[in-house]
Amino acid sequence: MAPAAPAAGRVIWFTGLSGAGKSTLASALYERLSAQGVAAELLDGDAVRENLSKGLGFSKADRDTNVRRIAFVAGLLARHGVTVLVSAISPYRDTRDAVLAELPNASEVFVDAPLTVVTERDVKGLYLKAIAGEIAHFTGVSDPYEAPLTPALHLRTDLLSVDECLQQLTTLAGLREQVT
Ligand code: PPS
Ligand code: ADP
Repeated sequence: MAPAAPAAGRVIWFTGLSGAGKSTLASALYERLSAQGVAAELLDGDAVRENLSKGLGFSKADRDTNVRRIAFVAGLLARHGVTVLVSAISPYRDTRDAVLAELPNASEVFVDAPLTVVTERDVKGLYLKAIAGEIAHFTGVSDPYEAPLTPALHLRTDLLSVDECLQQLTTLAGLREQVT
């Protein structure tokens, strides 16, 4: 008899402005999943754009292509039982809704901090440049960000610590609480 196919993995899709905290939270959750022996993979916007989506820009068409590629790979991994953590601005609600609906076990996490806060954090120095007009079509400054209407989790990273966000993510991912 053929061995049973593995149960599908979850896809946890982190969406939000640049600097909102998507990568920080996705990689922290990844560490926790790995520590508990859960097969997990991270698909992070920056890494994806250096490889799978190299050459794509930030027009709506290119962002949507990027998001669809990520969703395609996430689906393949999840099919083999891997928990997939996606971290991408993915600014367009219609595209997010469409790809998430195609993934059997997907949850949307809205990583949210006001524009004033992410501008102040300016993790990569991009907001300063965008506000100065040196980067066109910058999300939140000169390009749209359409917030989720019914995310599985809405994390205000200007109000919650990384640990507090992680507690909620741990529950979403079906993990045991970490005993420290
Ligand atoms: S998208 O919209 O989902 O395709 O974007 P993503 O693949 O997550 O890539 C976003 C990262 O690219 C950098 N960057 C920009 N972001 C937004 N708008 C413009 N115009 C832009 N140009 C470069 C930015 O560092 C984003 O990374 P994060 O990790 O979100 O800060
Ligand atoms: P993004 O991936 O959305 O562009 P990053 O994770 O690269 O964002 O950067 C978020 C920044 O905000 C980091 O410097 C991180 O330490 C900080 N931060 C403060 N509070 C939080 C929180 N609750 N969750 C995630 N990041 C936070």
